[in-house]
This record gives sequence, structure tokens and C-alpha cells, in this order.
Amino acid sequence: MRHFLADDDLSPAEQARVLALAAELKHAPYDAKPLAGPRTVAMIFDKQTLRTQSSFAAGIAELGGFPMLVDGALAGIGVRESVHDVARVLGRQSSMIVWRTYAQSNLEEMAEHSGVPVINALTDDFHPCQLLADLLTIQEHKQQLAGLTVAFVGDGACNMGNSWLLAGAIAGMHVRVSSPEGYAPDLAMVERAGAMAETTGGSAVLEPDPIAAVTGADVVVTDTWISMGKEDEAAARAGVFAPYSLTSSLFERAKPDAIAMHCLPAYRGKEIDADVLDGPQSVVWDEAENRRHAQKAIMTFLAEAHR
Ligand code: NVA
Repeated sequence: MRHFLADDDLSPAEQARVLALAAELKHAPYDAKPLAGPRTVAMIFDKQTLRTQSSFAAGIAELGGFPMLVDGALAGIGVRESVHDVARVLGRQSSMIVWRTYAQSNLEEMAEHSGVPVINALTDDFHPCQLLADLLTIQEHKQQLAGLTVAFVGDGACNMGNSWLLAGAIAGMHVRVSSPEGYAPDLAMVERAGAMAETTGGSAVLEPDPIAAVTGADVVVTDTWISMGKEDEAAARAGVFAPYSLTSSLFERAKPDAIAMHCLPAYRGKEIDADVLDGPQSVVWDEAENRRHAQKAIMTFLAEAHR
């Protein structure tokens, strides 16, 4: 039984295989039918969603399956009944579970007891489906991953900072994360990525100076300063993060043909300038589309592993 709970649930070879399959499925969206029957995939969202819900629902349908939306609030997971019991019930009703929630430990508990593959659709700690879409997008624009330098500027202590460290290192990229003091990824995460990078020829480092981080980068990434669940810290964060805004003058430090990435939703004038987000080097709409193709590939991979 395989799950996709964190980016490093895939080995470097498996990540490459999933990305190659995603590229194939993008060009022939209806060729693979691993969920035909149709097999039902349960989707639960405990946090807001636009791209994740729509791309999973469309992708499951394209794979021949049925997307079953389970209202997390109505189900009362962890409140009305335990994660353990929900896992056993949903595992009897579906062939796969996609869950966006807060605690990574709850997702792990779901995987332990469901009896079907579980996919992380974002937790406080990781957003691995976004990273598959992002790596697919970089491959399309740069025709390679290994050896490229990516600068992640902003809140490194959130799901996107962690996932960039792990997924980038697995892909053999050189990942630099640049965050204000107190908002860098945990050192344990940097070490976990560094150990992976040693096997792929990549690297994973913290670079607190945003100018140094972006200089010479092939890919520059940012994310909201206020992740879902952190809304009450908005005022305090605004001042701290201001020097880490991806302005056009910061973006100009990257390579002339660098691409700008953002998982969305984006707040223009905060973590990214409108000139960069809506500019010619932005690939954010490709990233959003590629969620569907990448998630179809990981669902196919897990369905085949579960057969
Ligand atoms: N770090 C952001 C990602 C949104 C897709 C959040 O968790 O809200």
C-alpha cells in the first residue's frame, strides 16, 4: 500500500516516473483509465480550496472515476468521530482518499487505518501535489530539473517552504530558501532535504538575504505570507515579510530567462508585485492547470501500486 503524504514518499526515480506520466496524460488526457468502473475517490477539505478541489474532481473524472466530496465540517472528523473511525468508514466506501487538513499527524493516522491510498491535498507541513505540478511546469519551460537553481522567498516555515526543500532536492535541484528570522523551515527539514540532495546532486540551503538567494536563480518562487490557519497573525507578519516581497527589482537579480512561480492565491503588492505575477516570465497559470495532470499521474501511480 503506497500513500502520498509528503514529497519524499516518492524516490527520485519514482518522482521522475510520475512527472513523465503527467506529461503524457497532459497530451492524451483520456488515454489512462485506472479508476474506471468507476472507482470512487473521497475528497475532504478542512481548509479553503479552489484549484485543489476543481483539479482533483476533473482529474478523477478524466481517469474514469467518481469524485465523492465529503464535507469535512459535516463529518466532524476528529470532533464527532475519530480520524481512525473515519478512515475505516471511508476506506470501505472509496478506493482512494484525498484530504486537505491541518495536522500532518492526522493525515498519517488516516493512512494507517484506511486500507486505501491516501493523498495529501495540503497540510500545515506539506503541499506535495502542488510541487509535482510545479516541477512539471519547470520541465515544460526549462526542459530539465536537475542542476537548476530555485529561490523560494517568503514564509519558509509553511507547507510550501518544506515541500520545495524536499521535492526540489529529490529532483536534483539547488534549493535556496530565504525567509525572515523566525520564519525559516526547521533545520530538521533542511537536513532531511540535504540528505536526499546528496543522492541526487542537488542541494538545500537557507539564505536569509533575499537578494543573495535570488541572484542567478533559474526559478523564483513565493507564496502568501499568511497561510490558511494563520489569519490572526496577519498584522504582525506584514511588517516582518515586507523585505521579502518578490518585486520586479528583486526578480531582476535572477537569470534573464528566469521564471516566476506562485501556487496561488496571490496577493499583489504583498508577497509579489503585479508586474511579476502578471508579467511575461510568470508561469502561474501553467502551474494551476498542471495540478490536474500531476494529480492524475500520482493517482495512477498509487492505483497501480495498490492493485
Ligand atoms: N501556504 C499556503 C498555500 C496555499 C495553496 C497555505 O497553506 O495557505
